[in-house]
Amino acid sequence: MIKSQEETPLFSAMKEYNSKNIIPFDVPGHKQGKGLKEFTDYFGQTIMQIDVNSSKPMDNLSNPIGVIKEAENLMAELFWADSAFFLVNGTTAGIQAMIMSACNPGDKIILPRNVHKSAINGLILADAIPAYIEPEIHDKLGISLNISIEKMEQAIIRNPDAKAILITNPTYYGFSADLKKIVQLAHQNNMAVLVDEAHGTHFNFSRDFPSSGMNAGADMSTISFHKTGGSLTQSSALLLIEGIIDKNHVKAVLNITQTTSSSYLLMSSLDVARKNLALNGQEEFKRILKLSRYARDEINKIDGLSSFGKELIGIDGACGFDETKLAIKVNEIGLTGLEVYDILRDQYNIQMEFGDSYHTLAVISLGDTQENIDKLILALKDIVKRYKKEPIILDKVTLHNPEVIVTPRNAFYSHRKLKKLEDCEGDISAEFIMAYPPGIPIITPGERISKDIIEYIIFLKEQKSMLTGSEDPYVNNINVLGF
Ligand SMILES: Cc1ncc(COP(=O)(O)O)c(C=O)c1O
Repeated sequence: MIKSQEETPLFSAMKEYNSKNIIPFDVPGHKQGKGLKEFTDYFGQTIMQIDVNSSKPMDNLSNPIGVIKEAENLMAELFWADSAFFLVNGTTAGIQAMIMSACNPGDKIILPRNVHKSAINGLILADAIPAYIEPEIHDKLGISLNISIEKMEQAIIRNPDAKAILITNPTYYGFSADLKKIVQLAHQNNMAVLVDEAHGTHFNFSRDFPSSGMNAGADMSTISFHKTGGSLTQSSALLLIEGIIDKNHVKAVLNITQTTSSSYLLMSSLDVARKNLALNGQEEFKRILKLSRYARDEINKIDGLSSFGKELIGIDGACGFDETKLAIKVNEIGLTGLEVYDILRDQYNIQMEFGDSYHTLAVISLGDTQENIDKLILALKDIVKRYKKEPIILDKVTLHNPEVIVTPRNAFYSHRKLKKLEDCEGDISAEFIMAYPPGIPIITPGERISKDIIEYIIFLKEQKSMLTGSEDPYVNNINVLGF
């Protein structure tokens, strides 16, 4: 029987299973919490009792035919997909599975250079060859936007043999590309469209949000339900529209990357969060958009602070903007975004999502209230009063287009050695170095390190930019190929 969106097949089955007081001679070995008393005393008996293993009544994520399948079908229906796959290892697992499903070893994939590192790791797993596109940069804000349609057209012309295009929708800062046009171009050229929708789970619930991947007709999308859909951390979903990609192949790939002991806590949180969005999503995101607009307006009234928004729509790389991403530009008060991120947590008890050199970013979502937004605004006003000094002047972001010498997979599996940054000119990088801002990798595995790149990394370090990805957290050394 087809279930309705008011139902929660998996969560309901879990409650029923729990009510039967079954004696567990299977794993997990804590046996309903009795074997982990301190933890159980803190979190409560129920949460431990429902930490169960796969069984006939509870179904199995590796080959769902029962209550998990029913819950996945409801997820697919709500998100306009043909199939949905629950993920218990975050969107990371979904992005890797999308790349491995769309590309055979040696196949080419077009992707923006500011992709999340899970996509670069997906290239390593799939042995896919990247054809990178540089995203647009907003010079005044110092951040990367999304991909312009012109650059996408050029990339498709330059790489007619590519099997897929991966797009981030939206970027960390909230910018979307013209996804519908990209899907049209891709399909005309027999390329699949894979969407990293880690930050866009909520897009189907208001016309004021950019188009979702499934709405635009993309072949696959992975949504971080745990980020803006309300489920528990690590729970995500891979959505598929069948045609170019076969659903049984996706299932086989997911069985390579996912655990055989999937958490029922995570999966049932997806089931309940899906029901909540189905019944209340439109109303809730109307409220959240109202809060986001209020917060943005109030921040823009504070002398020295600003928060960009929908006024940027229409420039290259900003076909759409998600107003729930509230980036607060703080450099005019003489502080970096990272400093304000720390000050807010340590002195005002406010945890932001992210800080870069110029911005600190709040994600406004389901649990947010007017009261908490007001606390953030008050704290920001106080910070301006206490700390305001000379502005930090933004330097123009420089993009380098490093030469790809070997595939990410070959670079990953080659011999490597750690070498002093200053001595790496001409070497091939074995690792990934990312800078915020602008949120674009400076170098990825398999690319040649030029003199310009070394000088740029030194410059970013002097600027106290946040550099991530390398083994040496201070990036004084880089792993390069060789003995
Ligand atoms: C753009 C983007 N893609 C993918 C991911 C990975 O998602 P998850 O943390 O759910 O594995 C993230 C995580 O922050 C992200 O920002």
